[in-house]
Amino acid sequence: MTARTDMLRLHDLEPTTGEFRRAVIDGLGATPKTLPCKFLYDGEGSRLFEAICDLPEYYPTRTELAILGDRAPEMAAEIGSRAGIVEFGSGAGIKIRLLLAALDAPAAYIPVDISREALVAAARALAADFPGLHIAPVCADYTRPFALPAIGGRMPETMAGFFPGSTIGNFAPSEAVAFLARARRLLGAGAVMLVGADLPKDRAVLEAAYDDAAGVTAAFNRNLLVRMRRELGAELDLDGFRHEARWCPRHRRVEMHLVSLSRQEIRLGAHRFPFERGETIHTESSHKYAVPEFRALAGRSGWLPARTWTDAGDRFAVHLLRTG
Ligand code: TRP
Repeated sequence: MTARTDMLRLHDLEPTTGEFRRAVIDGLGATPKTLPCKFLYDGEGSRLFEAICDLPEYYPTRTELAILGDRAPEMAAEIGSRAGIVEFGSGAGIKIRLLLAALDAPAAYIPVDISREALVAAARALAADFPGLHIAPVCADYTRPFALPAIGGRMPETMAGFFPGSTIGNFAPSEAVAFLARARRLLGAGAVMLVGADLPKDRAVLEAAYDDAAGVTAAFNRNLLVRMRRELGAELDLDGFRHEARWCPRHRRVEMHLVSLSRQEIRLGAHRFPFERGETIHTESSHKYAVPEFRALAGRSGWLPARTWTDAGDRFAVHLLRTG
C-alpha cells in the first residue's frame, strides 16, 4: 500500500493488529513466556525509547553519537559518493544526520521502521533539513523479508546499510547472522554496511543502562502490556508486573523481563495465560559482542568485516562490512 504524505511517498507494510495478536498468543502460550521485542515500538514506545536514549544511565546512544561525530568523515570516505542509504530501524533519525552531512552527494535515503508515526515524523523533519535528498520511507518489520522501493532520479553508486543502536544485539546470534545475510542480499553486490554493536562491560553498568532510576525503561517495557489491553482488549493487571533487567554472563546479554508480582492470569478472548508468582515474560535481549566476536559473526553471514571504530573508553563499536 502506498500513501502520499506531503512530498514523501510512504511504503506502508506496518504489522497488523492480527499479527500482534498472533505473536501474543504464541509468546504467552510458550514456556518460558516471551514476546517479540519489535512490538515495543509503537508511537508511544518510540517516544519512550527516545527518552531512554537521553537517560544518564543509558550510555550506548551518546557513545555511538560521539563515534559518529568524530569518525563520520572516515565512514563517508569508505562508503563513497552518491550512496543510497537504507537504515534499519530509523527511529527519530538523529544519527543518520551525522552520516548524511559527511557523505558526498548522497543519492537516496530509505528509512525503514516498524512505527509509522515515528517514521513519518522523522522523514518529514529530514526532508526539511536535506532538501536535495531523495527520501523513500518504508514502514515495515525488517526482521521479515521486504523489497526496496524504486528510487527515482539519480541512481545510487553504492548501496549502504545503516544499522546503529546495537539493535543487532536484540537478535539471538543465529537470527543476527540470518538478518545480516538478508540485508546483504537486499543491498546487492558492492554494498557496504555500518553496524553499531555494544561491547561487553561491567554488570552494574549494563544493568543500570536497562533499569534506570527514573523508571523510563520500566514504562517502555510495560508499554507492551498497555498495547495488549488497548489494541487486543486483553484483560490484565498493569500493576501486577514489574520490570527487571538481568545480565546473563553465559549468553553475554542483558535480558529484559516483565515479572508477575502474584499468581494471576492474562485473558485474551478465549485464551487464558496463567502466571505463577515470580514467573516472567522475556521481552527483549541485548547481546554484547567483543570486537573479534562481532567480526566473526558478520563473517558467518557472508559479509567481510573491513573496519571497526570504538570510543576511547571502549564502550561501543561501529563496524563497517563489505560484500567482498
Ligand atoms: N537496541 C537497544 C539496546 O539493546 C534497545 C533497548 C534499549 C531496549 N533499552 C531497552 C529494549 C530497554 C528493551 C528495553 O540497547
